[in-house]
Amino acid sequence: MTGRSPKLQRAYDLRSKEEAEAVYDDWAAEYDADMVGGMAYVAPANAANRLVDLAGDPGPVLDAGCGTGLVGAALAARSVAVIDGVDLSQGMLDQARARGVYRDLTKADLTQRLDIPDDTYAAAICVGTITDGHVGPEVFDELVRVVRPGGLVVATVAHVWESRKVGEHLDGLVAAGRIHLREADEWDSVNGENVRCRIPVLEVR
Ligand SMILES: C[S@@+](CC[C@H](N)C(=O)[O-])C[C@H]1O[C@@H](n2cnc3c(N)ncnc32)[C@H](O)[C@@H]1O
Repeated sequence: MTGRSPKLQRAYDLRSKEEAEAVYDDWAAEYDADMVGGMAYVAPANAANRLVDLAGDPGPVLDAGCGTGLVGAALAARSVAVIDGVDLSQGMLDQARARGVYRDLTKADLTQRLDIPDDTYAAAICVGTITDGHVGPEVFDELVRVVRPGGLVVATVAHVWESRKVGEHLDGLVAAGRIHLREADEWDSVNGENVRCRIPVLEVR
């Protein structure tokens, strides 16, 4: 990845969760202007629309790696009523809170077990967070655990589909009887940077 916006490149180059927390705390106030205004970041709208197109307002939705709340805003614009968010960065969570569309916002590390009981949510969505320098496909295991059977997990995966063996990981969840993989199509993600993503849609068994 060369020729990228320096701030986006800094995010892709993250090497630890401590570094991720510091970088996103520092970026939080300018993130929306940089990503949406500056780079035409469309992944939040694309993923939120895909979830609502498939499930309507499914009931409580967990936004994993919610950042400043672009996904929550897109879901709320489509009349999703109850949205909770988790993120590693308190600075990003503070921006999300200011939108007024989330019920609960919690600081949490998606690489660890979440402090959420099994089958809590009707759906989960994870946008811009399974990518270079961020989290790997293991996050799907936790999202599947906290979504009730019949619910959907929708995520964007940019850059790392092959390198992090995301397809193989999802195949393992299928083989274990934990999900049905409904689709994993390619979509636009960051138009100003020519970044595309896949949007896998998992139906929890
Ligand atoms: C590119 S932003 C995406 C935010 C939001 N979903 C969006 O699409 O605008 C990536 C987010 O992942 C969060 N993040 C990175 N590593 C994380 C981890 N281990 N646990 C929870 N959140 C993490 C960052 O703090 C940041 O808010």
